[in-house]
Amino acid sequence: MMFDKSAQSGRDFPALPNDLHVAVIMDGNGRWASNRGWPRLVGHRKGAEQVRKLVEACPELGIRYLTLYAFSTENWKRSTEEVLGLMSLFARYIRREAGRMKREGVRLRFIGDRTRLDDNLQVLIQWIETETAGNDRVHLSVALNYGGRDEITRATRAMAQDVVAGKLSGDDICDAVLSRYLDTRDLPDPDLVVRTSGETRVSNFLLWQAAYAEYVFIPTLWPDFTPVTMQGILKDFAQRERRFGGVSA
Ligand code: FPP
Repeated sequence: MMFDKSAQSGRDFPALPNDLHVAVIMDGNGRWASNRGWPRLVGHRKGAEQVRKLVEACPELGIRYLTLYAFSTENWKRSTEEVLGLMSLFARYIRREAGRMKREGVRLRFIGDRTRLDDNLQVLIQWIETETAGNDRVHLSVALNYGGRDEITRATRAMAQDVVAGKLSGDDICDAVLSRYLDTRDLPDPDLVVRTSGETRVSNFLLWQAAYAEYVFIPTLWPDFTPVTMQGILKDFAQRERRFGGVSA
């Protein structure tokens, strides 16, 4: 194996929550490539490779839910070449990894506004979600054309439409009801949000869901991020005290 499993059961590593949900802002692909004088897309391709390795390591790391920020509602501002390159990388990832995901019990979901994506990619997304819908070992969610504000706005619009249609009473709107209108309705809230490449911003990722999450910012660029890097982060996370606004026992 690529990393030391014993650390998880060692006395210096308190138990991680069951159904641990880790979300990652995968940043630094462009810099990783530029540092080597290579086109940015080479960094994204290496980034996709690291995604595959991390997903594979999830059961051993104790990660049940992994949510990855792959393309934000703001990323359309990048060059056409980069946007198209990323979109074809996502399509290729789905096609190439479908068999492995099915074998290894990975359920793949997409969050974000998919209606703006290319028709072929939308079909592929629908296909892989259906193909893997029966899997329950690892829940991988990829955020594509995702923005936290956009998601909350779409949810609010859908609630308003349901109120007008008489399916929902305005008085019944509460935290739990709004959560059911979000793209993440089937997912638990993230326990931990990791951002790579040294940036210390939230960048519109899971704004509602991460209300009580722990944040970890690390300097490692995403293409250099390995399951061992994640293991170190989890070790640190397991030792943090989470009180959800209350007092410690
Ligand atoms: C941020 O780095 C990264 C992205 C906008 C793309 C993330 C995509 C991948 C890792 C590819 C594969 C993903 C999946 C789910 C198959 P950046 O380009 O902003 O880097 P920079 O800040 O150094 O320019």
